[in-house]
Amino acid sequence: MAAVLPYNDENIELAASSVRAGAVVAFATETVYGLGADTFNESAIGAIYQLKDRPTRNPLIAHVIDLATAKRVAEGWSRRSMKLVSACWPGPLTLILPRHRAVPPAAAGGLDTIAVRSPGHPLARSLLYAVGGPLSAPSANRSGGVSPTTAQHVASDYREHTDLMVLDGGPCNLGIESTVVDLCESRPVVRRLGVVTIERLTELLGPVEVETPTEQSASPGSAMRHYAPRLPAALATHDELSAMLATGTPAAVLMFSESDIDPRHTRLDMPGDGDGYAARLYETLRRADASGCERIVIELPPQHHGVWGAIIDRLRRATSV
Ligand code: TXA
Ligand code: MG
Repeated sequence: MAAVLPYNDENIELAASSVRAGAVVAFATETVYGLGADTFNESAIGAIYQLKDRPTRNPLIAHVIDLATAKRVAEGWSRRSMKLVSACWPGPLTLILPRHRAVPPAAAGGLDTIAVRSPGHPLARSLLYAVGGPLSAPSANRSGGVSPTTAQHVASDYREHTDLMVLDGGPCNLGIESTVVDLCESRPVVRRLGVVTIERLTELLGPVEVETPTEQSASPGSAMRHYAPRLPAALATHDELSAMLATGTPAAVLMFSESDIDPRHTRLDMPGDGDGYAARLYETLRRADASGCERIVIELPPQHHGVWGAIIDRLRRATSV
């Protein structure tokens, strides 16, 4: 089992010196757990891809403590990028900008652009401070799987990697990944929906485009099937739910309406507010996988505004075949 370490000064120092020596460590952020390594160490970056079994074309996010460090990673700090930084950092917003030439292309999946974000979680910030430089970190799940929102999720995904350190910052309070905004186009393009909503970005920047996912997506990590549980999973509107549960095998059902369901199914109640739903989503998908049921049915939230947009995007990908 990977080693889960409590959050204290000693363990932050231990992890930071491992990172400086080229190791990969897992750590809490406010969105999901990340698997981080020194952005400037090409072989450490290679180790992240290998550990996750991630296609090497899928670029990573560089995590930074502050704007000065961000400027070592990316160039082209336009007025609109500065506006987003002052309004949303530290926090769940990732910017895509031209890659600084000092950054190895491997840290950006070979692209000339790079994603950069300053996380708000105290554990992530202590680690970045102790490392003294940027940490490239994808979500700490196996490629394509459900992102981890607790240290125990990471430890169980990397059960056989006994030397992997997992810094335990408790359950992630946001629970879904950061919003990714590409500032390299004439108009800002949202490459991944997240906790920072389209409404908020529009308020800050004016009109933004939202990328529609395709296999040729400019954000290679936006493949349609993603965030997927192991069991077959389907979405159902409230009206479709009873027909979908009337026949077929026992299902783990993520639902927030109070309707009764047949007792051969396992009911997993979800919060009715968007922030609460997001915070519980991945943990609940993992519980559904472990429930002993043969399939997952997810009641489609009726609302689409605010954080629900990002939630519905995740649900569509998790249930895409
Ligand atoms: O909340 C988060 O962003 C978490 C935590 C750990 O910070 N990280 C995360 O990383 O979700 P990852 O690697 O799982 O997702 C990064 C997304 C992918 O969809 C990737 O394709 C996209 O950002 N991305 C990264 N760099 C890019 C670039 N240069 N151009 C376009 N898309 C990029
Ligand atoms: Mg990911």
